[in-house]
Amino acid sequence: MTTSDRQYWEERAVKHGRLACGYLDPRHQVYEQPLRWAAFARMSPIKPGELVLDIGCGVGTWSVRMAEQGAQVLGVDISAAMIDMAEPHAGVEYRVAAAHELDCPDRYFDLVVSVTVLQHITDPEELKRALRNLRRMLKDSGRFFVLEYSPRHSVPSQELTYMRYRTHQQWIDLMAGEGFALASSGGVRFIGHRAYSAYRRLRQSRHAAPTATAAAASPPATTAAPAAPSLSSAESVLMRMAQATERAIARTPVIRQRSDLHAYVFVKAPASDLHSPSTSG
Ligand SMILES: C[S@@+](CC[C@H](N)C(=O)[O-])C[C@H]1O[C@@H](n2cnc3c(N)ncnc32)[C@H](O)[C@@H]1O
Repeated sequence: MTTSDRQYWEERAVKHGRLACGYLDPRHQVYEQPLRWAAFARMSPIKPGELVLDIGCGVGTWSVRMAEQGAQVLGVDISAAMIDMAEPHAGVEYRVAAAHELDCPDRYFDLVVSVTVLQHITDPEELKRALRNLRRMLKDSGRFFVLEYSPRHSVPSQELTYMRYRTHQQWIDLMAGEGFALASSGGVRFIGHRAYSAYRRLRQSRHAAPTATAAAASPPATTAAPAAPSLSSAESVLMRMAQATERAIARTPVIRQRSDLHAYVFVKAPASDLHSPSTSG
C-alpha cells in the first residue's frame, strides 16, 4: 500500500476532525452533499436489505445514510483516525483496510459505493489492484456507484500529492479495462460550486491579512461534528435556488454531462471483455 496515502488521510483527520473527509469549507459541503445524494438516489437507489460496501467511507456519512434506507453496510477506510470518528449505526459495521487489501468473500456485495475515493489512490498499479479486488467482491448482478472529479475535456495541470486527475473518458476507459461496463453517468454540479469558489477567492484577496490572522488564531480541530455554517436568509434562498437549478440541469439530456464532477453506475462486464477499453461516453 502507498504509505503516503494513508499518512495523508491520517494527518488530515487529526488536523481537521470530521471535516477532513470533505471540503474544509463547510459551505461547500452543505451545498454539494444534497446534490451528490440526489445523483445517487436517481441513479442507484438502495433496495432494502442490500449488502453495500462503502469503500473510503471517511467518517461514515454515506454509510449511515444508506443504512437509514435499509441497507446492511460495511464502511471501510484506509485511515484508522477516520474510522474512530465514524458515526455508529445499527446497520453499519466499520473496518480499517485499504481497498486493494480488503478481504471479504467473492461475489458478496450487491452494491459498492466509492464517493471521491478512487481519485485519491495515487499509485496507478495500486488503483488497478483495488478495482480488481472490488470487482471480485461484487455480485455478478451487482452495481458499482462511483463519484469522482472528472472534467469533460482537460484536467488541471497542477500536480497534487494526494490526488490523480482524470477526465470523464479516462475514468470510463480505466473502469472498462478492469472489467466494469458503464450503465449510466451524469454530472453532479454545474454552477454553484464554481460561483462560490470565485466569490471566496475574491473575498480572500480583499481581506488577505485578516484571513491569515484568523486562520492562525483558530482553535485546533476536534472530532466533534462541524458546526453548520450560519447563512443569512438571503444566502439560504440563493443556495436553495441554485440547488434547484443544479437538479434541473442534472436531469436535462446532453447538458447534464457538462460537469467537472460525475456520478457513474458500472456493472460487471463479462470476464471475456477484460482489458478491452470501451470508447463509449
Ligand atoms: C475525500 S474522502 C471521502 C470520504 C467519504 N467517501 C465521503 O464522501 O464522505 C476520501 C476517503 O478515502 C479514504 N481512502 C483513500 N485511499 C483509500 C484506499 N486505498 N482504501 C480505502 N480508503 C481510502 C480516505 O481515508 C478518506 O476517508
